[in-house]
Amino acid sequence: MGNEESSPVDESVPPQTLEYRTLDGVARYIKSGKVRSIVVMTGAGISTSAGIPDFRSPDTGLYANLARLNLPYAEAVFDIGYFKENPEPFYTLAQELYPGNYRPTITHSFITLLHKKGLLLKLFTQNIDCLEREAGVPDDKIVEAHGSFARQSCIECKAPYPDNEIKEHIAAKTIPRCHACQGLVKPEIVFFGEALPSSFFENRMLPGEADLCIVLGTSLSVQPFASLPQATRQGTPRILINQEKVGGLGSRADDVLILGDCDDGVQDLAEACGWLEELEAVWATTAPKAASELGKAEQPKRTKDEKLEDEIDKLTKEVDESLNLSKWHEERVHGWQLGQAKKQPGGASPVASGWKFPHEDPQGDLSHIFFFDKAGSSSNSPKETDKKG
Ligand code: OAD
Repeated sequence: MGNEESSPVDESVPPQTLEYRTLDGVARYIKSGKVRSIVVMTGAGISTSAGIPDFRSPDTGLYANLARLNLPYAEAVFDIGYFKENPEPFYTLAQELYPGNYRPTITHSFITLLHKKGLLLKLFTQNIDCLEREAGVPDDKIVEAHGSFARQSCIECKAPYPDNEIKEHIAAKTIPRCHACQGLVKPEIVFFGEALPSSFFENRMLPGEADLCIVLGTSLSVQPFASLPQATRQGTPRILINQEKVGGLGSRADDVLILGDCDDGVQDLAEACGWLEELEAVWATTAPKAASELGKAEQPKRTKDEKLEDEIDKLTKEVDESLNLSKWHEERVHGWQLGQAKKQPGGASPVASGWKFPHEDPQGDLSHIFFFDKAGSSSNSPKETDKKG
């Protein structure tokens, strides 16, 4: 973020709008009836308890784990220049990230609840997992600042590409090509080097109209999204619910920092507002059908901590394997580079000729960093970079 507001507010400075600079203070403000419109800003941290890793957490984040794909640098997987040369790493990841595999978290449902109460002015999300929609936040309340998997098109001629065909490609681990010009097809996720959607720019001043700003599960490290909280008026309370302090929040008199798990934080806030039962009821509507209804054997339920332990176990076991994979992938990439160097006019590149993904190697997928149980149930109870353009 452009961290012009980086020094923490002195504790002796009284809040301007809130009675107390605490979660209870925010709840009292909401209950007072003075709050009519809330802007919410979210990032990958709200989906980690669904089983989708975030990007920058040191051990469990995607970028720390992408080393095994032998990228020149981790963020290259979302870099348009790199994608044009080497789309496979993105498509490897796309199979894991593709919507439909995960259940929204109670944090997603908290945003739905704000909408149901007529309080949600706008949700700005950086997430591409579409879980806010799945939780029931309506389309016109969401600004998907970094795009999403909802549509896909050719990166050359921009022709739209059919939904069913991209699904087939992602499932079959093949790379889609434009029917009109043979260009690469990409979901309309905003990559580094691409412009944000116009909806972001049309709505970016909206936080200035809100009575409350809630920031959840983001490192606020990618611009221009990271500047959104600064668009709120001085005196408008801003609450950050996140594992760590980020983006200059805490520098204004009405900033409230709740450092910890966002699922816990939103439940505490809901409870303080007297909304906990409603929140649980809204979240219950997102539950997957019971395995028995789907004709599968019920799996014993595991707690979030147990799942995390499993994941860490898997990660440890994968270390040896990833060393093998790196070597395997290095050879592939090396082979591809040689192919590029030797490319004859009319010769097909490995991509055009049906390049295979690391998934096809039993050691080559990324499932070790996703909690999702492919058998059925998703597993809830989740410096400064200039992104785009
Ligand atoms: P990051 O991974 O940068 O930040 C996630 C934040 O959430 C961190 O501050 C974590 O500490 C926090 N966090 C993780 N799990 C949490 C939990 N259960 N409860 C509370 N906090 C938690 O993710 P983003 O900020 O979303 O761009 O990253 C921004 C952009 O960078 C993404 O949109 C992505 C990436 O490059 C794309 O184009 C896909």
